[in-house]
Amino acid sequence: MAGRYDVIVLGAGAAGMMCAIRAGRRGRSVLVLDHAAAPGEKIRISGGGRCNFTNIHAEPKNFLSANPHFAKSALARFTPQDFIAMVERHGIAWHEKTLGQLFCDNSAKDIIRMLTDEMRDAGAQLRLRTEIGDIDQTAGGYRVSTSEGAFEASSLVVATGGKSIPKMGATGFAYRIAEQFGLPLVETRPGLVPLTLDPQLLQRLAPLSGIAAPAEIRHDKTAFREALLFTHRGLSGPAILQISSYWREGEEIMVVIEPDIDVFALLKKAKQGNGRQSAQTALAEILPKRLAQHVVESEGISGNMADQSDKRLQQLAAAIQSWNVKPSGSEGYRTAEVTLGGIDTACLDSRTMQVKTIPDLFFIGECVDVTGWLGGYNFQWAWASGHVAGEAA
Ligand code: FDA
Repeated sequence: MAGRYDVIVLGAGAAGMMCAIRAGRRGRSVLVLDHAAAPGEKIRISGGGRCNFTNIHAEPKNFLSANPHFAKSALARFTPQDFIAMVERHGIAWHEKTLGQLFCDNSAKDIIRMLTDEMRDAGAQLRLRTEIGDIDQTAGGYRVSTSEGAFEASSLVVATGGKSIPKMGATGFAYRIAEQFGLPLVETRPGLVPLTLDPQLLQRLAPLSGIAAPAEIRHDKTAFREALLFTHRGLSGPAILQISSYWREGEEIMVVIEPDIDVFALLKKAKQGNGRQSAQTALAEILPKRLAQHVVESEGISGNMADQSDKRLQQLAAAIQSWNVKPSGSEGYRTAEVTLGGIDTACLDSRTMQVKTIPDLFFIGECVDVTGWLGGYNFQWAWASGHVAGEAA
């Protein structure tokens, strides 16, 4: 056997490293195993390379789960302020970009360095490039067979993330371990992902590819106000990524472009003020030129503003502010930032992330059925769930 530890953590991502730090600081001997060549690869690419490491407004309502109350305990016990304190102890400069989203001033690598330094100081060992094979329960805990030999520990923490971005080593391994131990899973699907459109609609919208506009995207009772981006595959931008976690195949979303402006009132005013102006010119006051041109043409509007009845103006405004669209699908795990669903929280103790029926087995981070909004919430869940498991493992 290659070694015995108090705690083995599978996965050196955000949650696994945070758990290792906390357990190590408690004096537990900790081994972290990962098949990747470097720890925290998703941290490295996150937030456009600057890591949106938390959100100061993080609250349970910003998370999706079959049990919306489950995340409360961990989130209350390790808060954004706790993470900010760690960032500041390491002298990492940060700023709030928008909507409570905190980013590194320099590089996401600062966060990875902070976590690996903390792990080292806590005495936690990290083994990379290690393929994990069988996991067996033993009299003394767990035995993990790997490409580097077998390791044993009293506690096993599974922190191998979800299925998003397989190119970066995401495997869905945690779900296989859950199945092995007979634990229930909530169906997984890609979240925070661009939505695609059917080829006919895509062809009509092709001229808009690359255009961004402020928008409110609605689905059922949920709405997000952020930027909308037209792409060569469909719709993207933060507002679409946010709603994608709520949307299901076959359903419609409503797009309200420029939600802070009453477009109908604006068009009426433009008609009264300058009747000789074209509808396209009037609209281009508030919309990108190409978008204004597209809407006017696709609504079949010609002539100047004086020629347009109120009904026509209402129709034009509705095309911009009540656009019901049925996405054909999503870009899938290839580009999804997160995986929705996962280990059913019903089988976990919310204070420790320990499996209720199996001693000393823990699941943390993205593999659990808790998924945050876009904007630093998912890392906050990784830190918080990792921290509470590290207190108990
Ligand atoms: P994570 O995926 O980070 O770590 C899992 C670890 O397990 C990896 O190191 C992996 O190599 C390892 N592993 C997997 N399978 C294994 C196996 N079979 N054997 C051994 N090791 C295995 N969130 C946020 O809050 N702010 C942001 O700015 C961003 N930005 C962002 C950008 C992009 C492009 C993506 C894809 C995602 C984000 N996210 C984000 C989401 C965030 O990255 C995500 O929620 C966390 O990384 C989840 O942390 P975990 O530790 O649970 O998994």
